[in-house]
Amino acid sequence: MNTIDAAKDKQVWNSAKVINTYASVENLQKPEQTILDLLRDRLPHARMLDLGIGGGRTTVHFEPLVYEYLGSDYAENMVDACIKRFPNVGARTRFEVIDATNMAGVPNGYYDLIWFSFNSIDCVAPEDRDKVFQEALRVGKPGGHFVFSSHNLRYLQTMYRLKWYKRVNELLYQFYRTAMLLYYNGLPGKYDQADYAVIRNGIEHFSLNIYYAKPEQQVRHLEKMGFRSIRAFSYKTGLEIPLTQLHLVTGDAWIHYM
Ligand SMILES: C[S@@+](CC[C@H](N)C(=O)[O-])C[C@H]1O[C@@H](n2cnc3c(N)ncnc32)[C@H](O)[C@@H]1O
Repeated sequence: MNTIDAAKDKQVWNSAKVINTYASVENLQKPEQTILDLLRDRLPHARMLDLGIGGGRTTVHFEPLVYEYLGSDYAENMVDACIKRFPNVGARTRFEVIDATNMAGVPNGYYDLIWFSFNSIDCVAPEDRDKVFQEALRVGKPGGHFVFSSHNLRYLQTMYRLKWYKRVNELLYQFYRTAMLLYYNGLPGKYDQADYAVIRNGIEHFSLNIYYAKPEQQVRHLEKMGFRSIRAFSYKTGLEIPLTQLHLVTGDAWIHYM
């Protein structure tokens, strides 16, 4: 099985090229907008911990709305990029280096909203993933919200499927991508019986291995960890997916969980 080496991957996230890409985006994904709208009334009173902030895509949307905002990433250069990108934030906003698997220094029961966006949790090694959930439960206020997205293992078949492109370069890239997927991960059917897998899916030029979970198993696991009132949202539509339907979702590359 592929493995995740978080320390090595941090070098990728700290590289200037990757930072430039992430520091220039600001679009909210559809389910993020849905969840923002659901929580909007609470935000003016909310203390928010934004984990794996990257170049500050979510900062653009949340920082102006919440009472207190801590933007963080384990990659020091990402945090520096955010400090540069948002020079005029108020006194209740900070940016700090924090590893989501060990939030030592973050007080217990403090945050109303903890956000770990764009599948950042999938960069954490499987053996360390529960540390993120435990830490979120520790630093989150009872009755608060933890929001994250995570890759969908049931999307693999869709990901491998060849599509027709009119442009030759897109068509060629697709053949290259599928060949690389096969080389690094084998055939998608290999993972049919698995609850999760570590997949080299192509992001950052096939330099990273990424965690993929079966959505219904992810929810079961969150319940086991002690999370309550779990909701899931479709990446494609932004709409809520009933938990009883999660095992049927094959067309969403990732799922947003609240
Ligand atoms: C795919 S990028 C997403 C960036 C940002 N959340 C966004 O939506 O644009 C993943 C981010 O997670 C960060 N990351 C990965 N593992 C982390 C960890 N254990 N603790 C905190 N941040 C982490 C990386 O440094 C990177 O900035």
